[in-house]
Amino acid sequence: MSFASSHLCGRFLKHKVKSCCSSSSSGETTTLQKTRFWNKCSVLKAPRQQKQRSALGSECVVVAAKKRGGLLVTNYALAENGVIDARELSVNTDPKQWTSVESSAVQKAGFVKPEKFTKDFSKPMSIPREGIEAAINVMESGRVFRYCATSAETSEVAQAEEQFAEMVGQKYAIGVNSCSSAIFIAMLATGVEQGDRVLTNGFTFTALPSCILRIGCEPVLVECTDNFTMDLDDLDKKAGESGAKVLLMSHMRGKVCDMDRVVAICEKHGMKLIEDCAHGCGVRYKGRQLGYHGVVTAYSTQSDKVINSGEGGFITTDDDDIAARCLYMSGCYERRYNKHARMPPQELCEKYMLTMPNLSSRMNEVTAAMMRPLIANLYSERLPKYMERWVLITSVIDLMAGDYINVPTSGENVEDVGDHLNFTLKNVTEEENAKFREITTELGVNLGWFTSSVNARFHKNWEKYGTPKYDLPQTDKVLEYSYDMKMPPDFETDDFQHIGHVISYAVNKAKGLC
Ligand SMILES: Cc1ncc(COP(=O)(O)O)c(C=O)c1O
Repeated sequence: MSFASSHLCGRFLKHKVKSCCSSSSSGETTTLQKTRFWNKCSVLKAPRQQKQRSALGSECVVVAAKKRGGLLVTNYALAENGVIDARELSVNTDPKQWTSVESSAVQKAGFVKPEKFTKDFSKPMSIPREGIEAAINVMESGRVFRYCATSAETSEVAQAEEQFAEMVGQKYAIGVNSCSSAIFIAMLATGVEQGDRVLTNGFTFTALPSCILRIGCEPVLVECTDNFTMDLDDLDKKAGESGAKVLLMSHMRGKVCDMDRVVAICEKHGMKLIEDCAHGCGVRYKGRQLGYHGVVTAYSTQSDKVINSGEGGFITTDDDDIAARCLYMSGCYERRYNKHARMPPQELCEKYMLTMPNLSSRMNEVTAAMMRPLIANLYSERLPKYMERWVLITSVIDLMAGDYINVPTSGENVEDVGDHLNFTLKNVTEEENAKFREITTELGVNLGWFTSSVNARFHKNWEKYGTPKYDLPQTDKVLEYSYDMKMPPDFETDDFQHIGHVISYAVNKAKGLC
């Protein structure tokens, strides 16, 4: 099944599962709490036919336990005064296969305390063996600096640029040492000058206002919506008021707004669009890799992103002139442009050779060598897996605690990646919000809280280094109840059942429901 269809299918199913459960769910929590027929579960995975037979049970009581990191529920058919039949079932990691009894069981397990989750969230994806060997070859050759390669064909960076440009469907990709460098160079290449105002997201990573300030410009912050995207009404208003010539738009956590409207707003106000796709690598908009609406786009390959090279990034564009400027600013000098597989027209390279400053932000050969297999297998192998796990965890959360947790989603033109879980608590007080964090931490799931005093994505924390103070009540309201969690690629799929259980139980417990 393709990435797109599995994702859509998962979303559709999530909705279906929810509606089939809701008809039988009213009052069951109370039954659950009163009867207390908790029992120990075995750790065996029930065969399929046993699951089918369990559908005979008239009522379910659920015990949650750990089954190799997953969620095991036991389904009991109840008589008035006790258990008359008991069958065990373990819930499949594919929510599409859940029967209505299983869905109901998952829903109830959200009120039962899960075991502590003990795996380490901080471990990034491993570098494939092929990448490790290629990196060793580079080191043995000593040709670590990209322009020490004898040609574009033998340069790992030039080949990674070729591969990346191919993957995103753009004419040029220029390898750099970080996405921050990519953004900085992209802004200079589009003509941003000291003293300009630059519009950007009020909810993004600190790198964006930092890059804007680095050029001596003023960041103008735009409100965000419940779905973590830029509020386009506020953008239109602030574009008119600020007179900004550039919009630096970040697709935070891969959530994407109506890009056709963004382009229309930019045209209306005579603004150039630069896209920050640090979280947008692999995200598709209208069937194409996101990042093609702007004149120039920035990507990150830092370890928290879907391509891990420690540090790194790319600048992509279809524009020859911008490509030539970026090439020289990134650190190409003299006539080294001929070491690029995708070389801008020679006359432009000659023109910018002596007129662009050199910011020495090049990608090196070891970085490119280790990431090339991860570029090659992103779409074919890794995206479907990210999405499968995202569908699983959001289905669990939706069933167990859907009344208190909202998962932001992109519009119908967007195919997400699902490498992070983001959600917002709803119908909770400030105290319940704090209690929720305490319980998740105690149960081994450390979540990023966007309004913590150290969070690098919270605009109030940027004021401390000089970003102007902005009143963003809408953004503050969303972020105060919103959380961030990386979904480590090396975890097992059923770990995400367990984590979803912890998150759901924590909010149910904070609400005093169990
Ligand atoms: C939204 C966003 N943009 C830009 C960056 C900067 O990326 P880099 O660390 O590669 O400079 C980050 C880093 O995490 C980010 O989250």
